[in-house]
Amino acid sequence: EKAGFEHFMMKEIHEQPKAVLDTLNSVLKNGAFDLSEVGLSDEDMEKISQIYIVACGSAYHVGMVAQYVIEDLAKIPVRVELASEFRYRKPLLDKNGLVIVVSQSGETADSLAALREAKEKGIRTLGIVNVVGSSIAREADNVFYTLAGPEISVATTKAYSTQLIASYVLAIQLAKVKGQIDEEQYSAYVEELKTLPEKIKKIIEDKERIQWFAAKQANAKDIFFVGRGIDYAICMEGSLKMKEISYIHSEAYAAGELKHGTISLIEDGTLVIGVLTQSELYEKTISNMVECKSRGAYLMGLTTYGNYNIEDTVNFATYIPKTDEHFATSLAVIPLQLMGYYVSVAKGLDVDKPRNLAKSVTVE
Ligand code: F6R
Repeated sequence: EKAGFEHFMMKEIHEQPKAVLDTLNSVLKNGAFDLSEVGLSDEDMEKISQIYIVACGSAYHVGMVAQYVIEDLAKIPVRVELASEFRYRKPLLDKNGLVIVVSQSGETADSLAALREAKEKGIRTLGIVNVVGSSIAREADNVFYTLAGPEISVATTKAYSTQLIASYVLAIQLAKVKGQIDEEQYSAYVEELKTLPEKIKKIIEDKERIQWFAAKQANAKDIFFVGRGIDYAICMEGSLKMKEISYIHSEAYAAGELKHGTISLIEDGTLVIGVLTQSELYEKTISNMVECKSRGAYLMGLTTYGNYNIEDTVNFATYIPKTDEHFATSLAVIPLQLMGYYVSVAKGLDVDKPRNLAKSVTVE
């Protein structure tokens, strides 16, 4: 059942190229997106003036990425919120808004409650859901199914990757409907999405390099992930993967925030992982990493092929293929999943069933 892999998590990491491709193909017709199965017509989309993304855990981290991508491409304001906060906040919702609930299981109690809260207020809801027929899928006005297939490992990998794809598809379609991109740009984005499965596959093929580095971090006490913009959102996911399966305390920081407090935690040898996929922010994050280094930090850099000068700064560099920077999360998350996995394995932990955690959180 693990198809020759030692753990479900590694099997599911390897299933990502296919899961991403399947999800993409499910909405692609003749080179354009067709969201009729989802139930969102171009006319429906045209009316949307505000988007709220509500989710828990990794699905919330997808929302953080989606916020950047949707706002940048479609120019629609997006608010991202933890479902457990949204449900009790008495949110003020725009009546032309769309509430997107992202959930692998479709059964997460807080996410379901948030969905009901939105529906009660008469706001249109869309579920990005993996499990067919789950509560969120049944109750949402519209459903965009991710085609990740069953995910067994408690730590999500392939479901997260497919949720990202669904978010990009919505962002691109909204951008077109709202007149923010022309046909040519639209097709270029669609074509770029199609290249992601192969690029993900290539990163996974290089896994031994991450394994070698990760195995040396098994005794780490704290790990910090730093980045800006979309890279900060990736850091949130990398940090969660690390803590949930390797039991190492880790934090994700918006790189510019370090000097407002956290940098005092950097000691000799503390591992700081910088994520740098956004060229406009590259130099800014590098300078934050240099600041960490001068306080004794040991640095890992995760960036795009070509940025080889990162090796002047970091102790260990790992590279991902080039893609449109809006979609870089889909690639950058892979080495971070592998890091969490291999640190957990090096520590001899139960990778697929970390202590105190359940796959589906059906109570609040
Ligand atoms: C982390 C993880 C969790 C889930 C969260 C939401 O690896 O899997 O943080 O992302 O519990 O679950 P769903 O997506 O089922 O609503």
